[in-house]
Amino acid sequence: MRVITFGTFDMFHIGHLNIIERASQVGIHLTVGVSSDELNFSKKQRFPICNERDRMRIVHALSCVNEVFLEESLELKAQYIKTHKADCLVMGDDWLGKFDEFKPLCDVIYLPRTPAISTTQLIEIVYEVGKNSEC
Ligand code: CTP
Repeated sequence: MRVITFGTFDMFHIGHLNIIERASQVGIHLTVGVSSDELNFSKKQRFPICNERDRMRIVHALSCVNEVFLEESLELKAQYIKTHKADCLVMGDDWLGKFDEFKPLCDVIYLPRTPAISTTQLIEIVYEVGKNSEC
């Protein structure tokens, strides 16, 4: 079974590692789509802290990851699933139901999100620490 998952994976953290490791255990081959800087800007009006090249390198360095590609458009998800011959799409359960439209193409599995950590939260913590150390 070939598995695919998607994400930004900015400021790579334990929640990212957990989902990627668990996705890899679902099959024998894992492809990870890392979303581009431009795609993130269009969604959140800010660029990721780590650029797309570095984020792809970090994900690719994991022994359980077989392939990494740049996800440049949300509209191309179906195409990415087909191109990478994925039998199964895995996402964290913060996306529950949001990828069900791809069920005609492959299995869609939502795995439990790691509690109490996210890139957004890390950015806020660093920002607060920086603000307080200025006083
Ligand atoms: N993820 C997870 N557990 C977390 C954080 C993320 O399982 N604590 C999963 C997401 O569900 C997704 C993948 O990791 O399948 C990539 O998520 P991403 O959006 O890059 O990470 P977040 O930390 O959620 O980033 P942000 O706060 O910017 O949304």
